[in-house]
Amino acid sequence: MALPSTLNRYLLLMAQEHLEFRLPEIKSLLSLFGGQFISSQETYGKSPFWILSIPSEDIARNLMKRTVCAKSIFELWGHGKSPEELYSSLKKYPVEKMVPFLHSDSTYKIKIHTFNKTLTQEEKVKRIDALEFLPFEGKVNLKKPQHVFSVLEDYGLDPNRIPENPHNIYFGRWIADGQRELIESYSVKKRHFIGNTSMDAGLSFIMANHGKVKENDIVFDPFVGTGGLLVASAHFGAYVYGTDIDYNTVHGLGKASRKNQKWRGPDENIRANLRQYGLEKYYLDVLVSDASKPSWRKGTYFDAIITDPPYGIRESTRRTGSQKEIPKGIEKCPESHVPVSLSYHLSDMFFDLLNFAAETLVLGGRLVYWLPVYTPEYTDEMVPWHPCLKLISNCEQKLSSHTSRRLITMEKNRDQYSHLLSDQSLPYQGHNSFREKYFSGVTKRIAKEEKPSQE
Ligand SMILES: C[S@@+](CC[C@H](N)C(=O)[O-])C[C@H]1O[C@@H](n2cnc3c(N)ncnc32)[C@H](O)[C@@H]1O
Repeated sequence: MALPSTLNRYLLLMAQEHLEFRLPEIKSLLSLFGGQFISSQETYGKSPFWILSIPSEDIARNLMKRTVCAKSIFELWGHGKSPEELYSSLKKYPVEKMVPFLHSDSTYKIKIHTFNKTLTQEEKVKRIDALEFLPFEGKVNLKKPQHVFSVLEDYGLDPNRIPENPHNIYFGRWIADGQRELIESYSVKKRHFIGNTSMDAGLSFIMANHGKVKENDIVFDPFVGTGGLLVASAHFGAYVYGTDIDYNTVHGLGKASRKNQKWRGPDENIRANLRQYGLEKYYLDVLVSDASKPSWRKGTYFDAIITDPPYGIRESTRRTGSQKEIPKGIEKCPESHVPVSLSYHLSDMFFDLLNFAAETLVLGGRLVYWLPVYTPEYTDEMVPWHPCLKLISNCEQKLSSHTSRRLITMEKNRDQYSHLLSDQSLPYQGHNSFREKYFSGVTKRIAKEEKPSQE
């Protein structure tokens, strides 16, 4: 694809984790900061090296203030499939673009980064010496250089077949690092209040990025649990609000999820989690409420709905009962009896969630949620849809040999829809048996593992 000449080329060094989530994250963030995803590369499959074109360095810096999928970004000065190709590409890079970073008053350092191969110090020095033809006039400063340049060599993805020579070599000026350190600093291991299903920190930030959460947004999680997703959104400056059907979770009561601790302590709750990270000012509130019966007046309140609904594996999928919904088969109940809770079928839950999002999101607002699937039967048609919500991305995370969950991101692109509803909008019923299918696989595996000892 021919690139517009006003765009500069950048090299993104991606983390080799959650591969499918990377492209939607980068695309979402670029669209948030006014950039468009333009790239000359055909695929982004599994490689950690992505070349993309961005109109300004500011957009590149903003991107790196948010991404947890990318490690670093470089202004790309040259690229080749061999050292010779790299050098000739570097010779074509406009000198006027290099000079501001190479002049005699500046200090610099050159780093060598290899993927899937380790070089000796001697080999690294050779690579640096070979760049002598570049007009470096500043002084080398290894400790605190003003400018850092990198040679990045790509030896492919197969650790069992490492080639003698790299497939690709890049040279660029380092601009910024991403936010990988958030994964450690917000780790649930060190979190004040956690539960059995607290969302992993890295995935929570990815979800907030897919949701294009930004400063002063209002973000809602209708299945809030211990608020893992609120924490990530608040970190990006959004005001957060959540509901959960479970009184104990919302009030931070009941049994603790940590080993060596029987009961939750007096201040184990979502507000305290936000306080732990200096984010308490972004806490709006959390309420006990059933997502199947939203108690909101008509209106568009949320910039994003980011949530992890229950799958019925480690937490039950329940909803409150009501007089209208007394299930068949309990005719013996006195007329006044209202069941405390009913089971909440997964397909109804997703249907309700999409309807709720279509009604309460602002135009352009995003819904990001996890959909559990039984992989042998999964097809893209099973993903719930809604006439007002456009599917943005659908990324798989494997849970077991036969189950996975898919991170679905949708964007509200239309307000009025009742005339567009058809039979097709009815929920796909197959999600309902996820629990049975999940456990059927687990039971089979346990039976298999136990077999040798029984013989
Ligand atoms: C997978 S957990 C969410 C975990 C959360 N993301 C966290 O980081 O702790 C799902 C939550 O949904 C809640 N839940 C189940 N049925 C519900 C309903 N009908 N309405 C609201 N919340 C419900 C459960 O109590 C549970 O806390």
